Amino acid sequence: MKMKPINLFEYEALASQNLSQMAWDYFASGAGDEVTLRDNRTAFERLKLRPRMLVDVSQRDLRTTILGRSLSMPILIAPMAFQCLAHSEGELATARVAADLGIVTILSTMATKSIEEVAAVNNGSPQWFQLYVHRDRSLTRALVDRAYKAGFSALCLTVDAPMLGRRERDTRHQFHLPTGLELANFVGLEGFEMLQEAGESSLFTYFARQLDPSITWDDLEWLQSLSPLPLVVKGILRGDDALRAVERGVKAIIVSNHGGRQLDGAIATIDALGEVVAAVGGRVEVLVDGGIRRGTDILKALALGAKAVAIGRPILWGLAAGGAVGVQHVLELLKAELDLAMALSGCAKLADIDSSLISP
Ligand code: GLV
Repeated sequence: MKMKPINLFEYEALASQNLSQMAWDYFASGAGDEVTLRDNRTAFERLKLRPRMLVDVSQRDLRTTILGRSLSMPILIAPMAFQCLAHSEGELATARVAADLGIVTILSTMATKSIEEVAAVNNGSPQWFQLYVHRDRSLTRALVDRAYKAGFSALCLTVDAPMLGRRERDTRHQFHLPTGLELANFVGLEGFEMLQEAGESSLFTYFARQLDPSITWDDLEWLQSLSPLPLVVKGILRGDDALRAVERGVKAIIVSNHGGRQLDGAIATIDALGEVVAAVGGRVEVLVDGGIRRGTDILKALALGAKAVAIGRPILWGLAAGGAVGVQHVLELLKAELDLAMALSGCAKLADIDSSLISP
């Protein structure tokens, strides 16, 4: 790295220089007109804080727990596909950093390193597996088995992608994996290659061919029967859906619009959080992702009832800028920013962060 970035936006700028146009556009883009992609950010910027003064904040404590496991800070690494497009170590670097920092990373079904390879580098620290349900249910079952046997501690079902959102930048590039990269969890299986397709993103085509768009709430019981792993659902944007998840025994909910990559025009996640938190009423943990770039964004999310946040693209920007070192620095920057935001708003510990910090 030439000049070391001092915030996540500078990492983004650096990554844009290091990535091929196709990889940059795949990671950076959203669906349709990218309205939701932008709105995830602007919704955070619109929220104003009401800091408390003259509180002893000489000692700050950022530790928390998620699904009963301790985390050094209320941050998880969101599941992201194809991390080797950003850096040759890809998912291995991300998992190693998460283990070193004492946080959870969520490995994508669509990873470029396999479940077993990633499990080998994370020193037994808690790690979740993100699941896409394939039409071939025995294949889906095999993925869950492998994740369980490899020591993953939760299953994270993405529920906002019965089909892939149409990301026009990917269509334009006929997005595909460059030679040497593959879907590491499906090596040797016929039909699971990410071949270049005329006129379309190969990921869009993969989803249409392989993923099961018929899954419903009733399938959660089957999924839960496959292993003892707690089920997390990612992609909830409404209170009634959150309630359905709770009723089906889901253990945590991630309020997410897939980083603006699925339904364009969907509500910004920070605007959806309150309704979900109210519906859930403390019965399960609620997390949120989408547009979090500053420690103050995390403070706002926690004030509105999230137990923790998940960070997506900035992790890829760290990877593209400097591999594991870049990922670690991105997370350290966020931690330092959250720590400072807590001090400046009169919060010594996470439990001090409440809804009164947000201006109505
Ligand atoms: C994959 O899940 C993607 O959003 O690109």
